[in-house]
Amino acid sequence: MIIKSLEQLNSFSKKVANRLKEKDFIFLVGEIGVGKTTFTRFLINYLQKKEGLKVSEVLSPTFNLLYEYDLKKYKIMHYDLYRLNNEEELNNLGILKENENAIKIIEWPKIIKIHISNKLEINLEYTKKGSERKLRLFGTGKWKNFE
Ligand SMILES: Nc1ncnc2c1ncn2[C@@H]1O[C@H](COP(=O)(O)OP(=O)(O)O)[C@@H](O)[C@H]1O
Ligand SMILES: [Mg+2]
Repeated sequence: MIIKSLEQLNSFSKKVANRLKEKDFIFLVGEIGVGKTTFTRFLINYLQKKEGLKVSEVLSPTFNLLYEYDLKKYKIMHYDLYRLNNEEELNNLGILKENENAIKIIEWPKIIKIHISNKLEINLEYTKKGSERKLRLFGTGKWKNFE
C-alpha cells in the first residue's frame, strides 16, 4: 500500500486503532525516520480523543525502552527495542508475558522470535518522494487478512 502523506498515515492508523483489542501486538519495522513513532502517535492520540481523554505527547521511547498510555479499558505499551541486544534483556522487560489488559506497539522488534497469536506487523519503506511511504502488512490471527 502506498501512503502519500501524513494525513493518509493518520487515516490508516485510525483504521488499525478501531480494531485493536487487549493482547494485540503491533510490530513496526523500517529504517530510522520512516514513520514508526509518528504512526504510533497518531494511533494513541486518536484513541485518547475517541475516549474523551486528554491528548498527550507521544515521544519515542528510544532511551526509556517503554512509555505507557492509560486508556479506559486497557493501556498501550509503546516500546523501542533499537538498543536491546540480547534476549535476556527482552525477558527482563516482560514484553512477552501475557498481559490481559495491554496492547503492545513495538518498534525494532526483530529480537522477538516467538509466535504471537494476534499480531499486525507493518513494514514501512521510503519511496523516491519525500512524504510518501510504502507499507506492507503481515498479520497473524485476527490480523491475517487486514488491509
Ligand atoms: N507519509 C509519512 N509517513 C510517516 N512519516 C512521515 C511521512 N511524511 C513525512 N514524515 C516525517 O518523517 C518523520 C518520521 O519520523 P519518526 O516517526 O520519528 O520515524 P521512526 O520512528 O520510524 O524513526 C517525521 O518527521 C514525519 O513528520
Ligand atoms: Mg521511532
